[in-house]
Amino acid sequence: MFSKILKGPIMKAGATFVLSCIVLKMLHKVYYTKRVDLSKIPIDHSSFSNIHEVTTENYHLDLFIDFSEKKLVGSIMLDMKTLKDSVNTIYLDSKLLNIKNVIFKGEKIPFQIEKVPNGQALGDKLTINLPEQLKKNVSFTLVVEYETVSNTLDSSALNWLEPMQTFDKKLPYFYTQSEPIYSRTIAPMQDSPSVKSFYSARIKVAKEFNVFMSANKTGEFSDGLFSYYNFKQDIRIPSYLLAIVAGGISRYSISERTGVISEPSQLVLCAKDLEDLEKYIQSIENYLFEYVWGVYNIVVLPPSFPYGGMENPLLTFVNPSIITGDKSNVAVAIHEIAHSWAGNLVTCNNWSNFWLNEGITVFLERKVIKELYGEKNYQLDILLENISLCESIKNLGEEHSYTSLQPFFGDLKNPDDAFSKIPYEKGFQFLLYLENTIGEEVFRGFLRFFMRKFSYKSVDTDDFIESFKEYMEQKLGKPQAESIFTKILWDEWLKKPGYPPKQLDIKVEDFDEAKVLAGKFINEKEEENSILEKYLSYPANLKIIFLQNIYERNEIIPTETLNVLTDRFMLNEEKNKEISFVWFKICIKNKFMKNIKHVEEFLGSTGRMKFVNPLYVELNRIDPYLANQIYEKLKMLYHPIAREVIKKKLA
Ligand code: BES
Ligand code: ZN
Repeated sequence: MFSKILKGPIMKAGATFVLSCIVLKMLHKVYYTKRVDLSKIPIDHSSFSNIHEVTTENYHLDLFIDFSEKKLVGSIMLDMKTLKDSVNTIYLDSKLLNIKNVIFKGEKIPFQIEKVPNGQALGDKLTINLPEQLKKNVSFTLVVEYETVSNTLDSSALNWLEPMQTFDKKLPYFYTQSEPIYSRTIAPMQDSPSVKSFYSARIKVAKEFNVFMSANKTGEFSDGLFSYYNFKQDIRIPSYLLAIVAGGISRYSISERTGVISEPSQLVLCAKDLEDLEKYIQSIENYLFEYVWGVYNIVVLPPSFPYGGMENPLLTFVNPSIITGDKSNVAVAIHEIAHSWAGNLVTCNNWSNFWLNEGITVFLERKVIKELYGEKNYQLDILLENISLCESIKNLGEEHSYTSLQPFFGDLKNPDDAFSKIPYEKGFQFLLYLENTIGEEVFRGFLRFFMRKFSYKSVDTDDFIESFKEYMEQKLGKPQAESIFTKILWDEWLKKPGYPPKQLDIKVEDFDEAKVLAGKFINEKEEENSILEKYLSYPANLKIIFLQNIYERNEIIPTETLNVLTDRFMLNEEKNKEISFVWFKICIKNKFMKNIKHVEEFLGSTGRMKFVNPLYVELNRIDPYLANQIYEKLKMLYHPIAREVIKKKLA
């Protein structure tokens, strides 16, 4: 009797639950799948694929990570769909891959690897000839069997490390860096940010290794010799967010949905610096809307990782240099979290629109900084990064297309060539200008509207402008929206090269004080003790401003002064790499050769391009022979992407 009373409602509740799950799942599928509008597919100068004729809905990787041969061996299964009638050729991006077979409906079919003249930077065009012509909207599957080719001369996503290059020095290590155009060195595919697909994977590896991907782990088993991991990403992502890491690594849970992954000896240290990940996520959720990816993990990689951070979904990669023990570099983690909305949900549709990824991300990152660390730190960040922006524009030249928010790269160029602070900081300053024009709350409303509207899609700058107009009209009515819209300097900001059309209107006393202090330090010997005391009391960002001002001085800094910075400021012993970096720029620029072994040590301690590239450029300026000699000695410590960039700078 009792059980009968209970059973009725429980069964009913159970049935309702199951039913709503099914409905939700169906809605989810429709929502995530509704996409391809042909007129919106952009031109992508960085891909050889015929993205206007065919798209990838889903792919499955079946790979063996072969540490002894340093290669990936296996296959990719591409579930594709035609976007047009009469399609019988498929072009895929492929670089440093040995393609063995292409299979269609169970049969091997012909293919060619085409070397496009002057197209080496983009790799090869894999041309696949289908035995039949396909009509529009036909789904079909291709399987490509292949393996990767190790090559230290070309840039590739794959970094194979010896045990010596890891923290624990026990096992080799392997990780990938796909952005912007290197996922084509992991597997043949449509390597364009305008194509967003689901993916799954089965990864085989020797049993000592643990594997993570930018996807959910759905299974794991071992046959005694090898482990097999299954993964599934059921949100559409662009190819540049494909990521794999394998090594002697493990995960430490920080909060319910956040965690850190690193070599065992680093775990506790990393978890401490990254203990506030949950707070950062919540801060952006409050500003925009919910985090849709489920869990959030950060992998702290070995030092060769060429970036500060990379926003692989569910699996941000960071450089170990951001772990300082005092959280002074957590802005990088906040930045990568912000990409969970800008970039990963709403994605630039080609690399000329990269500012949409990075500019909006920096804007969101700084909202968090302002909320959690206060207005002053927010403003200091803006001023500090503005220095780097101006330096970038000066180095490139004010007329250079790469100083525009929509740089042009035709001519089979690698989009990495255009990488600089411009999409980040000019992009940020443009958004700040819009915010100042329409007010903080209205701008936040617009960003929410824009990010919701284009979630799971790829967009360009015109989508941004049009939806700004749409939102403003909804919000304020046509006439008022129109009058604001026409006053905005769209072209000056978005099309023209050079410095931002409007100067920053921000003043921070500490910033000016650190500047004045640097001047005093150079000119007034007798003040040394009080200056040192002041310097030591500074947080990292003010120390950087102080040193940056010394770096920027036109006169040669006398050796005695550099000795003081060495002996009393103890800059060679500095642990924060952001600070060391400016210090070593000062040393090289002023030919403080006595310190060169410390410079070399620094260049061997990190592969982060933000630090090593400018130092090699600076070294090359004063002594090309020495620059090359040091590079030759250290090059195998760097990621292949970094090697290629540095090599170009030293040529
Ligand atoms: N997505 C970038 C890294 C990237 C950009 C890789 C272009 C390859 C091509 C990442 O989010 C990033 O911007 N990292 C910065 C962090 C900083 C701005 C806080 C970095 O690595 O310095
Ligand atoms: Zn970024």
